[in-house]
Amino acid sequence: MIKSLGYTIYIGEKVFKDLSSFLKKQKYSNCFILCDENTFKHCLPGLIIQCKELKDAEIFEIESGENSKSLQLCSQLWETLLSYNADKNALIINLGGGVVSDLGGFVASVYKRGIDFINIPTSLLAMADASVGGKTGIDFSGLKNSIGTITQPKGVFIFPEFLETLPKRHIANGMAEIYKMALISDKVLWKKLQSAKILDNTFITRSVLLKNNFVKKDPLDKGVRKALNFGHTVGHAIESVLLASEVDILHGEAVLAGMICESKISLKKKLISKKEFDEIVNTLTQKFTFAPLPALLFGEMVKATVNDKKNTKLQIQSALLNGIGKNKINVAVTPMEILESLEFYNSITI
Ligand SMILES: NC(=O)c1ccc[n+]([C@@H]2O[C@H](COP(=O)([O-])OP(=O)(O)OC[C@H]3O[C@@H](n4cnc5c(N)ncnc54)[C@H](O)[C@@H]3O)[C@@H](O)[C@H]2O)c1
Repeated sequence: MIKSLGYTIYIGEKVFKDLSSFLKKQKYSNCFILCDENTFKHCLPGLIIQCKELKDAEIFEIESGENSKSLQLCSQLWETLLSYNADKNALIINLGGGVVSDLGGFVASVYKRGIDFINIPTSLLAMADASVGGKTGIDFSGLKNSIGTITQPKGVFIFPEFLETLPKRHIANGMAEIYKMALISDKVLWKKLQSAKILDNTFITRSVLLKNNFVKKDPLDKGVRKALNFGHTVGHAIESVLLASEVDILHGEAVLAGMICESKISLKKKLISKKEFDEIVNTLTQKFTFAPLPALLFGEMVKATVNDKKNTKLQIQSALLNGIGKNKINVAVTPMEILESLEFYNSITI
């Protein structure tokens, strides 16, 4: 059990008991469970069996994938909530990966000026990262997460057994954010990850704890929390450009590429040593598979980093490493440094 900003994060086999107690106490007028077709099939039946309070909940099923983080789908969900007469005392339960929690959190955070929502993450990425911290949002005008709110959930219930049905590619996708968390803030975790052979649930708990520490210190993302964006300046640019050109890439895969690029920039700025840089690149290339990026799109990717919402006055601001296990925020980066880092990234994929 981890305390966050006005809510509790429960992890483990007994979370459904905690969820039942939570629901009994809160007495919501209506419960709406948001899921996609995969979590509908693999996670919803177990949830309903284990948590009897949800037997009459309404189910909203959306299509899986990043394309669902759209304003169009938000409109449909708001219309559906209105058609069910959902009032201020209704609850949205996000049962899914980061797409479901980002979307459902956003829908709840503005419906009737805000109704409660809780997250029951079912992907590794959502368990270790996206379900905690209160960032909600959708993609808009081709830019990732460009519309959203920071609204904390009323509870997070992490049941690692849901991962049994998660495809392998999505396990690696979630591991990417755990490696990021280690690189920016926990050298001991980094060493453990280097020698780990299998996914251990303690990695999820540690990742949540580390993220929660940043969030509690800086809920509105104005200072120390920005460290969590390591790998994301370049990663989001890669993801936005590739998704627009219909190349299949997952968030964690883009962030991993971004971590290689931003480690290269950290080296260039003498924030990490050559030895540390080699250790990072060697570890990540041993643990993950990297595909080359289309070099023809590098120009667009650099342009997308200039539009990143983390920037001020159109100057690229990045969160970089400051040694392994430490970070430095608000580092000015030039478009040329981004381009060179993308070229370096492709050189290690050959
Ligand atoms: N809000 C935040 O703080 C934050 C942080 C990191 C990432 N994100 C966002 O999270 C999103 C990515 O999240 P994701 O990787 O979880 O993607 P996702 O929600 O698309 O889930 C990945 C895939 O796994 C399937 N799935 C999920 N749980 C399953 C299970 N238990 N069994 C079988 N299949 C299952 C889903 O249906 C989907 O096909 C991105 O949009 C990213 O921007 C948000």
